[in-house]
Amino acid sequence: MITRVKLKNWRSHLDSEFKFSRGTNALFGGMGSGKTSVLNGICFAFFGNFPDLQSKKVKLDEIIMNKPVEKNKAEVEVFFEVNGKTYSVKRIIEKGKGTTYSEFREEGKLIEAPNSQRVTEAVEKVLKIDYELFTRAIYSEQNALDYFLTIPKGQRMKKIDELLMIDKFEEARANAKTLINRLLDRKIEKQKLIDQVDLTSLEKNISDLIFSINQLSSEKEKLEKELKEILIKKRKIEEEVNELRKLNESLESLKREQKGISSAMEETIKVIKSLEEVIKDRTKEEVEKLLEELEKRAKELEKDLKIKKEDYEKLSSFVSEIKTKLSFLKEKIKELEKDIENKLKLKNELEGIRSSVGNLEEVIEERKCLYEKLIGEEKELEGRIKETREIIEKLSSVTGKCPVCDSTLTEDKKKKLLEEREKLLEEFKNRVEEIRKNKGENETRLKELEELRKKVERIVFEIKDFDFKQEEYEKSKKEIDDLSKILEEKEKELKELKEEIEKKEKVNEEMKEKINELKLISSKFEDYEKRKERLSELMKEAKHLEVKISEIEEKIGGRNLIERENELRKLFGEEKEKEGKISENSKLIEEKEQRKKEYEEKIKQVAKEKEEVKKLEKIINDLKIFELALKSTQEEMRREFVEAVNYEMNKLWPTLYPYRDFIEIKLNIEEGDYVLQLKDRAGNFINADGIASGGERSVACLALRIAFARVLA
Ligand SMILES: Nc1ncnc2c1ncn2[C@@H]1O[C@H](COP(=O)(O)OP(=O)(O)O)[C@@H](O)[C@H]1O
Ligand SMILES: [Mg+2]
Repeated sequence: MITRVKLKNWRSHLDSEFKFSRGTNALFGGMGSGKTSVLNGICFAFFGNFPDLQSKKVKLDEIIMNKPVEKNKAEVEVFFEVNGKTYSVKRIIEKGKGTTYSEFREEGKLIEAPNSQRVTEAVEKVLKIDYELFTRAIYSEQNALDYFLTIPKGQRMKKIDELLMIDKFEEARANAKTLINRLLDRKIEKQKLIDQVDLTSLEKNISDLIFSINQLSSEKEKLEKELKEILIKKRKIEEEVNELRKLNESLESLKREQKGISSAMEETIKVIKSLEEVIKDRTKEEVEKLLEELEKRAKELEKDLKIKKEDYEKLSSFVSEIKTKLSFLKEKIKELEKDIENKLKLKNELEGIRSSVGNLEEVIEERKCLYEKLIGEEKELEGRIKETREIIEKLSSVTGKCPVCDSTLTEDKKKKLLEEREKLLEEFKNRVEEIRKNKGENETRLKELEELRKKVERIVFEIKDFDFKQEEYEKSKKEIDDLSKILEEKEKELKELKEEIEKKEKVNEEMKEKINELKLISSKFEDYEKRKERLSELMKEAKHLEVKISEIEEKIGGRNLIERENELRKLFGEEKEKEGKISENSKLIEEKEQRKKEYEEKIKQVAKEKEEVKKLEKIINDLKIFELALKSTQEEMRREFVEAVNYEMNKLWPTLYPYRDFIEIKLNIEEGDYVLQLKDRAGNFINADGIASGGERSVACLALRIAFARVLA
């Protein structure tokens, strides 16, 4: 039951509140006073929608108050009670944004917010009514009271089925039918598969396979037993072969050793024989005594040789010293001869100079005096020439008186005087020329004489030691003679000494050879002893080997390795053959098992399919029952609904229609559709559609509406 409605900015309602109480509540008001707005508000609060909004007759923004003042936001809140609990639902709309907030409360406690859809779902759950049912059965729009009669005939049943949600049964039925058909198809398919399989032949195949598998298995067992026996035999022979191989190997190696020893013995005997030849029948003591003696003598000889060699060295170095001295002296004499010859030549030259020039110092002095005298004469003449030139100059420029004698001077006299002076000047000049020539000659001669003097001085210096050199030459010559004599003597001595040394060395060499020979013989004695010892050792070893060899031969006991090896090879072959047969056998068994398994699998598969078919059959049956149940439920529901509606309508009818022209009202099913009928006084039912009076029609529709609401809500 709705208890309270609050509207804010909701169309013409700025802030309105309505309270409702038990029983019928009515809203009274003039046109445009806002009654419809309240009903729209309630519907919107519950479901977020109302018919005019759904059919787009109005837009949500137009709900928000636009006059007298324009608002941006509207709010609607509805309070109601269900089963003694109070609930409230509120929604807010904003311009251009739609529903911006929704909430649902139970006993004042917030249950759901702010999502509009979720709030609607919560309300539907509590009311157990959805928008569809609310708008068709409970909430009647203005001028839509006769909604039922406006539905075209033949579609009423469908519309009412929708209200009753019987249409859902229809859907379920159709679905069941398709499902049944699909399952039937599947069943047929499976059956086909089952029919294709020949079970009896499959089973026969399996029993055949089992028989042959058993046969093969017992064959395999037999083969395995045989193989085992072969293996045991093989192992035994293998062991024997190994033993024989080892014995043969050691026998061979012993024989090799034996061969080695006998050849070593032969070799040793040979060596012993050759040693005996060297030693002959000398005893060791004899040889050693001889050796000692010889070594002593050799030592003495070597000592003597050493002294002689030292003497020889000394003498030869003395000889070479004399030789050096001699060669030096010879060189010196050669030089002295040259020198003396030179000096003799110079001496002759000096004699020549002295005999041609005389005393050279005096001659040079004389020449020097002459030279001085010539220089004096030259100077005097030069003075006179200068004087004469001056006089000539004066005379030629003067008139009247003589510059010299101050006498009157005539032109003739002047001329005569000038001629005289010119002549004199010429004379002086000639004489100076002559003196100068003499002076030059004298100068050259003086130079030559000076050169000669220098040369003489040099020669005198050179020949100063002439006598000394002569003496030296004589002395050196004598010395060479002396030394040559000594050299001759010493060289003879040296030659003798050399011959003596050579002789002794030869003796020494021979002695050494002899010593070596004796040493060799002495060493052979040792070797001889050793070889003899070795020979007896070898003989012992040979005996030992012989014993060993006969032991092994006894162990072999005439058994043949090759024979045994052939036997083993044969057994190997047999083993391989058996193994091959066994593996072939196993493969066959495996294949047959596989095939058996496949057949069994197939039988299992068929059994499974059969089971499936059975299951499918059951489901199909159940579904058919379900389909029938749906159909009968549908019919039952319609019948019950019609009965309930008719009961409700007739309860209301006397109150709604007190005129008694029609005594009963009923919803009838005719030709698979609903018709609303009225019963007249004569007891005939007339269709409400056909009744002329609009009032009667409206009342009948109102009765139907109220009955619907009562039955459905
Ligand atoms: N958004 C709005 N703002 C203000 N007034 C509105 C708005 N929408 C409709 N109306 C006015 O509100 C009035 C109420 O109309 P309505 O509820 O249908 O009245 P009634 O059902 O009582 O005849 C009308 O006069 C209408 O013009
Ligand atoms: Mg109205």
